[in-house]
Amino acid sequence: MRRLLHRPRRLRRSAALRDLVRETNLDPHDFVLPLFVSEKINTRRPIPSMPGVFQFSLKEVVDEARRAQDAGLQAVLLFGIPAIKDEQASGAYAENGVVQQAVRALKEKSPDLAVITDVCLCEYMSHGHCGVTRIDGDHFHVLNDATVDLLVKTAVSHARAGADLVAPSDMMDGRIGAIREALDDAGFEETGILSYAAKFASVFYGPFRDAAESPPQFGDRRSYQMDCANAEEALREVALDIDEGADIVMVKPALPYIDVLWRVRERFAKPTAVYHVSGEYAMVKAAAEKGVVDERAAVLEITTSLKRAGADIIVTYWARELAQWTRG
Ligand code: PBG
Repeated sequence: MRRLLHRPRRLRRSAALRDLVRETNLDPHDFVLPLFVSEKINTRRPIPSMPGVFQFSLKEVVDEARRAQDAGLQAVLLFGIPAIKDEQASGAYAENGVVQQAVRALKEKSPDLAVITDVCLCEYMSHGHCGVTRIDGDHFHVLNDATVDLLVKTAVSHARAGADLVAPSDMMDGRIGAIREALDDAGFEETGILSYAAKFASVFYGPFRDAAESPPQFGDRRSYQMDCANAEEALREVALDIDEGADIVMVKPALPYIDVLWRVRERFAKPTAVYHVSGEYAMVKAAAEKGVVDERAAVLEITTSLKRAGADIIVTYWARELAQWTRG
């Protein structure tokens, strides 16, 4: 046989050799755990479309975050479910809103845990849209600038409660710059912004809307979230958010947009996050329940792929398990 200088199989002969040449290694610090905290409950409530994921009460979420930290995680991403929704999303920026209370409690019990807060209005709006809407006959509009004003108030109130990073997930234009300016003016120069910079309108958010009780009551989110067909536009969106002051940029969902993730990381070399979303989680869970894939192996393969494609941070509902599986 011809003598091959590079003979890849040599390096795959044993687990030790495979480990030695492994390019991508997962670590508990790669992961962020989303947590849902509800003002309406006293004990945790399972989310039927997301087996293993719960809404927690204000008291429980503190213990849950502690468990996450004990498992080796260093950050959680908080979503709030308020007792009352209205047309101004007033629960989103109330000083005693559910997220504000949760952040204060978390920071008291787990001061070293990074607390990231989702900044959006959909959970707080009676109609479930991510912004202020106006209805004209059959059409509805989401009013960009009126929405940005409320997002700014929300972000500042999260910072005041002690959030380390605020994470706007609404996709309104100009919100990163407006939030950055308001945070600085209020004395929160050190509070960072994780921007959902390239957020695609996706069928894979379905289960989340159960978890966050935020399905739109009419219409859909396609006027503000991105078209799955557009990657160049995603890069322009990311460039704008970076210009406006985003510290970390996020691509969402994950696997269907892995090409976008790769291009964002390559082009901007900014800390880059990816959100492996609720529907992606539910698909793997369903397949695992049917016995057609091994859950742990599937999750490790998916998250390794996301990290290989450029993700510095992976937001995933498996974060706690992943921290255990990848420790040491
Ligand atoms: C809020 C928000 C959504 C998600 C994160 N923040 C839902 C949406 O835009 O409809 C989805 C997260 C997931 O599916 O896991 N705007």
